[in-house]
Amino acid sequence: MNEDLWDKVDDFLSETLGTSDPVLEATLRASTKAGLPAIQVSANQGKLLQLLAQTQGARRILEVGTLGGYSTIWLARALPPEGYLISLELEASYAEVARKNVSRANLGKLVTIRVGPASETLAQLFSEETAPFDFIFIDADKPGYPKYFEWAMKLSRPGTLIVADNVVRKGALLDSDSNDANVQGMRQLLDIIAADRRVSATGIQTVGSKGYDGFVLARVIP
Ligand code: SAH
Ligand code: DHB
Ligand code: MG
Repeated sequence: MNEDLWDKVDDFLSETLGTSDPVLEATLRASTKAGLPAIQVSANQGKLLQLLAQTQGARRILEVGTLGGYSTIWLARALPPEGYLISLELEASYAEVARKNVSRANLGKLVTIRVGPASETLAQLFSEETAPFDFIFIDADKPGYPKYFEWAMKLSRPGTLIVADNVVRKGALLDSDSNDANVQGMRQLLDIIAADRRVSATGIQTVGSKGYDGFVLARVIP
């Protein structure tokens, strides 16, 4: 088993199933051209997020970490016409790229990108008494995940699904002595989720074009 094989199978699955499309491909090209790092979810992962949001019947989606708006587009496509998605991004220049990508995908009316450190924007959303979100995707700076999860809980309702990306980190997750703040962030996140009786959670390892990583999924128990 090796990364090359995972990559090939990932491509085979997305090509055979027709997972991607020209608008998503244009999003990736525009993001690369603008110099953004290629750290977005894979096509198959984006589709998984979309299917989960649809299964959830999500009308209000929150995303933490926009980058070029690739996962944003996958998720916004799950929304009904009266739904909306709010995505939070630290870098103003990334948000600009994402806005263009979202417009090209004809999702401009459904998507709002808010620029700034997510911990501040999340606090703002809470103080604005925003309606609770149905689906929340956490995918920004990894040391921030514990506090993003706490905000996600405050912005949730019974039944909300919270998904966090990049939890496994090539297995580095196992290293309790790790000096990597990303790993420590994930370990703290898992401890917080484990101790939180309000949620029911699982962790899923993934391999593919994004290497070896994983998601945590937590449902706010109704
Ligand atoms: N969800 C995207 C990928 C996000 S990459 C996709 O799959 O398509 C992580 C993003 O989080 C980067 O764009 C980075 O700039 C942003 N980020 C990093 N620190 C942040 C912070 N403190 N607040 C908000 N966004 C942050
Ligand atoms: C990286 C990957 C991600 O999916 C992400 O959200 C942030 C960073 C990375 O590989 O560095
Ligand atoms: Mg990610």
